[in-house]
Amino acid sequence: MIIIEPKTKVEFEQYYDLRWRILRQPWNQPRGSEKDEKENESIHIVAILEGKVVGCGRGQFNSSTEAQIRYMAVDEDFQGKGVGTKMLKALELRLKKKEVKTIILNARENAVKFYQKHNYKIIEKGSILFDVIEHFKMGKEI
Ligand SMILES: CC(C)(COP(=O)(O)OP(=O)(O)OC[C@H]1O[C@@H](n2cnc3c(N)ncnc32)[C@H](O)[C@@H]1OP(=O)(O)O)[C@@H](O)C(=O)NCCC(=O)NCCS
Repeated sequence: MIIIEPKTKVEFEQYYDLRWRILRQPWNQPRGSEKDEKENESIHIVAILEGKVVGCGRGQFNSSTEAQIRYMAVDEDFQGKGVGTKMLKALELRLKKKEVKTIILNARENAVKFYQKHNYKIIEKGSILFDVIEHFKMGKEI
């Protein structure tokens, strides 16, 4: 498995498709809802296994020192096998190189333990997405 920044058209297509399948489709959200206006200015990461994108994540810049990790998703068949950990580390490394000091994120309830394992602390309870998904604002100094 390789962890890289997507470059080709196919890699980006598979990346957004995975985002949609894992983070949007289960809540009946349309294609297109998996993207926002910060795509062009963000750092993207994908995990590729045998030519297929099986994991993805994004780091966006909120200010010169604060970044936000969003859209972390691993294909259902590959969850719990360390893919998320590798991608998170790769994103943190890249953000650190850009002089980022703090990373924040809004973790879905099911992902809080994953981020706690990587030393993110809960800052406050966040919003509810699609009427059902609880979020927790978390953060970490890097
Ligand atoms: C959350 C997610 C990105 C984590 O990636 P992953 O590849 O499954 O995580 P890893 O295998 O690297 O897990 C690292 C550790 O966190 C733990 N962990 C991961 N997900 C967990 C969960 N839902 N509950 C409890 N622990 C969890 C693992 O047990 C593992 O600990 P270990 O090393 O002691 O075994 C992935 O499970 C996912 O895509 N989930 C669905 C979408 C989602 O909720 N995305 C996050 C939006 S904020």
